Amino acid sequence: MYATLLILHSLLRWLVLGSLLYAIGRAYRGYAAGGAFTKTDNAVRHWTATIAHVQLMVGFTLYMVSPLVKTFFARVGQNGQTGLTFFGVAHLLAMLTAIVVITIGSALAKRRETGRERFKTMLIWFSIGLVIILLAIPWPFSPFAARPYLRF
Ligand code: HEM
Repeated sequence: MYATLLILHSLLRWLVLGSLLYAIGRAYRGYAAGGAFTKTDNAVRHWTATIAHVQLMVGFTLYMVSPLVKTFFARVGQNGQTGLTFFGVAHLLAMLTAIVVITIGSALAKRRETGRERFKTMLIWFSIGLVIILLAIPWPFSPFAARPYLRF
């Protein structure tokens, strides 16, 4: 169960990043060109937020079963636990913030009057979410917790 969740969580990261990049690209193009906010744009807005929510659920489940997180709680207060603290606190809080930002952006965009305002709202909020996610991913070059690009 743990191994499966870890693989799923690792792979889903690419879907989260890909959908966000695609949504931001469409929002930028729509905003710059002043085009209409189509049904497809609306579906992209909706599915991007939904994919982030799925990752959130998988992340929380992983948090509950991860031996790494269990060790973190067993050793709270001790020094030299960078990798554990990263997953125990930083990753959780940053990703939660990013997904809240994406959710707010998606909800606000839905309620805007004009297509241009919808694109602008999506562009701003999704971009902020993306930056937070990029910073909180344990990339192979991360000084806090290095993890592979792909896990099978
Ligand atoms: C967009 C959101 C998120 C992305 C892109 C993301 C991405 C990742 C990646 C790439 C890893 C490394 C996986 C590996 O070792 O191959 C990871 C690990 C982990 N993530 Fe997330 N994550 C997200 C949200 C969350 C959330 C909300 C939680 C919940 C608390 C969470 C909990 C964890 C835990 C506990 C680990 C380490 C598990 C272990 O090694 O035992 N993640 N995450």
